[in-house]
Amino acid sequence: MKILDGKQTSNDIKDELAEKVLQLKQAGKRPPHLAAVLVGNDGASLTYVGSKVRSCEKIGFDSTLIRLEETISEDELLDQIDKLNNDETLDGFIVQLPLPKHIDEEKVLMAVDPEKDVDGFHPANFGKMALDMEAFIPATPFGIMELLRRYKLDISGKHAVVIGRSHIVGRPMSILLSQKGNPGNATVTLTHSRTQNLAKITRSADVVVSALGVPNFLKADMVKDGAIIIDVGITRVPDENHPKGYVITGDVDYEAVKEKSSYITPVPGGVGPMTIAMLLQNTYLAYSRKHL
Ligand code: GUN
Repeated sequence: MKILDGKQTSNDIKDELAEKVLQLKQAGKRPPHLAAVLVGNDGASLTYVGSKVRSCEKIGFDSTLIRLEETISEDELLDQIDKLNNDETLDGFIVQLPLPKHIDEEKVLMAVDPEKDVDGFHPANFGKMALDMEAFIPATPFGIMELLRRYKLDISGKHAVVIGRSHIVGRPMSILLSQKGNPGNATVTLTHSRTQNLAKITRSADVVVSALGVPNFLKADMVKDGAIIIDVGITRVPDENHPKGYVITGDVDYEAVKEKSSYITPVPGGVGPMTIAMLLQNTYLAYSRKHL
């Protein structure tokens, strides 16, 4: 078993971006600029957005965190997005999800200028991705593809099983794995909460991407010997012995499954850091389209 080290790989990507920023600054140009909009005070969202902003600072990108009250109206949020769309000093921005229940998420994501949509959540970007056109690709599936690419894992013709059909991870993941290219060319099964005989399907998988959000869901008897296991789960499980009062737990029963796998992503230190690195990569892409 080998570990797919997302922490190390994301640091490599961040170092590469930091080098590019240095070159921009030497040429007298401003660095890329990412903004994040956070509505409310959800603990996990605060942590993720904080990481995104810190990573920008670390590599020399400009960053802006816009914090809005939980009670903000949909119209006020849409006004804020309009401002960001028209801010020429800004290359890309994200609206951290989930949003409060009184706000229509679809309406908000549709309001983001596709040229600044570095999360790749706007239908224009999703559609382009599905059609193999250049697009912003959602950071988590993009990070998983990049991890496979950098570890030179050949999945062509292999059976890849994705668990979960979310718009952010499972659905785009299923598209990317099946696309022509390397990594790609996989035969993909997209499974979800209504799937029958899931274990039978995962047992035939050469690659499993689990994006379900159920801690320790994927057991050793559900995977084939030698499979590549990608764990997207990041559930906070209460744990009194931990200073924070919880531990971040993946979808995969790691200790047991790792013995059967050829490659596996740990949690933490697998997919999570890759997501942030690819968001930065997308921000650089947004910048370079307009300025390079
Ligand atoms: N919430 C969970 N994952 C994500 C993500 O990748 N981007 C945004 N904006 N919100 C999220």
